[in-house]
Amino acid sequence: MIREFADLGELSLAAAELFVASAREAVSRQGRCSVALAGGNTPRGCYQLLAKEPLREQVPWEGLHIFWGDERCVPPEDSRSNARMAREALLDAVPLPAVQVHPMACAADPEAAARDYQRLLSDHFAGALPRFDLLLLGLGEDGHTASLFPGSPALSETERWVVPVQKPGDPFRRLTLTLPLLNNAACCVFLVAGADKVAALRQVLTPDGQTPPLPAQSIAPRAGELVWLVDRAARES
Ligand code: 6PG
Repeated sequence: MIREFADLGELSLAAAELFVASAREAVSRQGRCSVALAGGNTPRGCYQLLAKEPLREQVPWEGLHIFWGDERCVPPEDSRSNARMAREALLDAVPLPAVQVHPMACAADPEAAARDYQRLLSDHFAGALPRFDLLLLGLGEDGHTASLFPGSPALSETERWVVPVQKPGDPFRRLTLTLPLLNNAACCVFLVAGADKVAALRQVLTPDGQTPPLPAQSIAPRAGELVWLVDRAARES
């Protein structure tokens, strides 16, 4: 499903409303809602809307469990940290028990952090392949999503749920969830805005068959929904 919005503001509101609906449905059905947040800048507006009325009071925060789809291996207070962005935009402003927020603490030792996060996920999902009720994703200009970059060996990972990766040129490593996990989500929602995403979005939504598939094209939930929330600027050809 592709929903187009006039601008990032409208897209953010739709994303926040979808978050509320998913959380309420999951908590009423199973007593909890496990969400994996996206990093980058696009989701910030959505997070900020969830942090204030009228949406804030509609979210069953006591049943929410927050994870990340990926993280930069930098200190938690670093401005590049995805967890820091989410804390500032949302988590510090809502009544969510700290034990239900699970950042990928990977600054010191990405390999160990990947193993630790996998163990955390295994505990949370009782040893089964984790199935997020809601998985938020962004799209990079190069077609990456989470921290699955074009040509990365992580794209062909079939066993591990969390792996350390290196984006060429980054002065830090990253952790990313892998495709077996991402594609087991009940609802994957991409948030894509801005003219700089036109080429990647076009290639993902209408592949030309020539170009090697972009990482975001590998997001195809086996038993779940795939929703694209895009703004007009990102669709303009
Ligand atoms: C990250 C993100 C990444 C992001 C895209 C889009 O850690 O960078 O998880 O996958 O979603 O790069 O980023 P913007 O929303 O900033 O364009």
